Amino acid sequence: TVLVVDFGAQYAQLIARRVREARVYSEIVPHTMPADEILAKKPSAIILSGGPSSVYADGAPGVDAALFEAGVPVFGICYGFQAMARALGGNVAKTGLAEFGATDLKVTDTGSTLFEGQPIAQSVWMSHGDSVDRAPEGFAVTATTDGAPVAAFEDDDRKLYGVQYHPEVLHSKHGQRLLERFLHAGAGLRADWTMANVIDEQVADIRERVGDKHVICGLSGGVDSAVAAALVQKAVGDKLTCVFVDHGLLRKGEAEQVERDYVASTGVSLKVVDAQERFLNALAGVTDPEEKRKIIGREFIRVFEQAAAEVVAEADAHGEQVEFLVQGTLYPDVVESGGGTGTANIKSHHNVGGLPEDLQFQLIEPLRKLFKDEVRAVGEELGLPSEIVWRQPFPGPGLGIRIIGEVTADRLETLREADAIAREELSRAGLDREIWQCPVVLLADVRSVGVQGDGRTYGHPIVLRPVSSEDAMTADWSRLPYELLARISNRITNEVREVNRVALDVTSKPPGTIEWE
Ligand code: XMP
Repeated sequence: TVLVVDFGAQYAQLIARRVREARVYSEIVPHTMPADEILAKKPSAIILSGGPSSVYADGAPGVDAALFEAGVPVFGICYGFQAMARALGGNVAKTGLAEFGATDLKVTDTGSTLFEGQPIAQSVWMSHGDSVDRAPEGFAVTATTDGAPVAAFEDDDRKLYGVQYHPEVLHSKHGQRLLERFLHAGAGLRADWTMANVIDEQVADIRERVGDKHVICGLSGGVDSAVAAALVQKAVGDKLTCVFVDHGLLRKGEAEQVERDYVASTGVSLKVVDAQERFLNALAGVTDPEEKRKIIGREFIRVFEQAAAEVVAEADAHGEQVEFLVQGTLYPDVVESGGGTGTANIKSHHNVGGLPEDLQFQLIEPLRKLFKDEVRAVGEELGLPSEIVWRQPFPGPGLGIRIIGEVTADRLETLREADAIAREELSRAGLDREIWQCPVVLLADVRSVGVQGDGRTYGHPIVLRPVSSEDAMTADWSRLPYELLARISNRITNEVREVNRVALDVTSKPPGTIEWE
């Protein structure tokens, strides 16, 4: 395992992903972990990430020199590079020559371990104030920029390396190659971490843990639960029962995709609970977004608990015990919940569509080590339908928070039709994987005047909210082609009764959120 020491910026997860793209398994540890604890994990290599601080700032995290003396290959990036230089006796200076963004790098040794075969002049992504102006003893300086006299250093004897820039971001064009050179040539690691291996490993693990017990899993229609359940199914077959709560807030065709296509491709035994009426009744008269979320979350838990009790009773009748619950927890959730820094409660996301904490089951979390793109790769490897594997993020409360105003059956029908048209046209334009998601919002309490045919109409507006994003924390509105927008608008106003106007949301996040509620 390659350990990425997180110095607190947002780069650590990206670095870990890039290492895995090089087919080497990696995990993130906080910089507060003592060196002996890090070394006790027997890492095959260590990467020190970038961070927000200056090495001169008060309380700036340092690096224990013990990390460099254990014979473990180390690669320092940006802040990690400077902290490494300091710990090993080099010098970091306030040169006043800060560099941010695309910067010209001059490689001074294109035969070095890191830069072998790379162009002498290249553009790299920088983000630093201070600079290393003297490399520690034993290091060769292999690249420079105008603002960073030492932009890269290498010591093949001790297998210690570092660069001032960010090789993990796409703006550093040859960055991935550099990282791979460190991993394979510098640290001597083999590229043998593949999704096929992940599946084999998980299947063996799950089989061993489950033994002759029974497993239950809630399917949401999203990628994570679908892939998690498919893995468990592969491991224990019909000892798994999946529960799918149809709350009536899904988009057109989504329930069928789970009930028909997913079941056909995985063979899971599925228990479908049709709870549409129940959710509609509970939501009647409610317009406040947070209240909607609470109601949907509460009802979901109740319905699931009841279904789970039925699964337990059925298993019991066969002399089986239900002991495990599958959850689609991903690696970023694991890392973030370990971080523990409080963020403002802007929307109460994580409680919605989640399960109660006091369910009497042990958890099976087969995706705990994986990033989203890896989950998708596992899903493809397992042969799941691509509509599910490539599904864009969709909120747990579903269309319930895309109807601005009270949720009713008619309004859901209207929104489902409009949403289906937008999705169809976006797919047809080949933009599914380019845009992060495109909420389609029904302004149910707003009416405007229109003219259709010979008549005056007084219908509702639909808002399109296409966004591009890396992680949903920030987002920008997608610049969709006008032709496409025209087609979507045309079709929606022609084909969906009650809708006589289509608007485009051109707000970034912040200040807007992605969803309207
Ligand atoms: P916002 O609207 O906060 O959304 O910019 C960020 C991401 O989270 C999704 N989202 C939710 N997901 N339950 C969920 O499971 C929720 O209540 C919820 N609200 C927003 C949203 O679709 C986007 O991907």
